[in-house]
Amino acid sequence: MILTVCATKGGVGKTTVTANLGGFLADLGRKVLIIDADVQPTLSSYYILDGPPAENGLTHLIQAASADGAISRTGIRNLDLVYSDDPEGELQHWIARTPDGRFRIRRALDEIAPRYDFILIDTQGAVGGLQDAAILAADLLVSPITPEMLSAREFLRGTIQMLERLGDLRYLGFERPPLVGVLNRMDKTRDARDIADQIRDLASGHPEIDIRMARTVIPATVAYRKAASMQAPVHRIETKRRGGPTLSALETMARLARELGLAESPDTEIAQGGEPK
Ligand SMILES: Nc1ncnc2c1ncn2[C@@H]1O[C@H](COP(=O)(O)OP(=O)(O)OP(=O)(O)O)[C@@H](O)[C@H]1O
Ligand SMILES: [Mg+2]
Repeated sequence: MILTVCATKGGVGKTTVTANLGGFLADLGRKVLIIDADVQPTLSSYYILDGPPAENGLTHLIQAASADGAISRTGIRNLDLVYSDDPEGELQHWIARTPDGRFRIRRALDEIAPRYDFILIDTQGAVGGLQDAAILAADLLVSPITPEMLSAREFLRGTIQMLERLGDLRYLGFERPPLVGVLNRMDKTRDARDIADQIRDLASGHPEIDIRMARTVIPATVAYRKAASMQAPVHRIETKRRGGPTLSALETMARLARELGLAESPDTEIAQGGEPK
């Protein structure tokens, strides 16, 4: 399954979700590839690499439509990475002037998809050919949304425009993948259900687009920043249930993975010894 984490807005938690879901699924024993399709290579350095980086990265994956020599191993067992190597943002232009540019990630992944249980693609919070290419490769889209209402509206406007624009590609056999919105960085002062309801209301005006809101909400906790600075998946950092209604990172990732259909019942698997290694 190929999952693309996208949002037309920056700073909402795309890299956090990609890195941590990827790390969680890898710790469950699944073979996972994370792809950094952002010019700012935050995901590329999220985890320490195991050995030297691969000779190639995202540019080769797209320009050669092949992942050959573009897969690096991370220090997390079962977790591989395609790093971003396009600091000047050249790929956006290259994709725009290449007739099948937006289909290149999909073609490259066709070849390696059988080797992985999950491929997770992180994108830049903007609109462009590279984002389109990541969306066109996906079976499922996940969009983190931060809880300010302005951001919820922006999310919907931006996302719907993005997906509607790609709708014409149905003549080329492309089916728009469903999108799941995930509230991220929720603090206790906000009512997650209220925000989710408002988004659902706004989305109901666009029945042609398959948008669902996840029930699992990612709380704002220091664990996410701490995990990033320790270069570790967050579920390894915060395993115990926290006091009060806020979910621990382990519970959050397990619920999110289950809700997205990525793992049957991760809670049980963890209890049965799929313990973080
Ligand atoms: N649930 C959370 N709780 C606390 N901090 C969080 C949470 N999620 C993300 N953050 C922090 O918010 C910041 C932005 O997150 P992140 O880099 O994942 O966003 P992004 O959407 O990938 O941003 P960009 O658009 O720049 O790529 C980071 O410092 C991250 O550690
Ligand atoms: Mg990012």
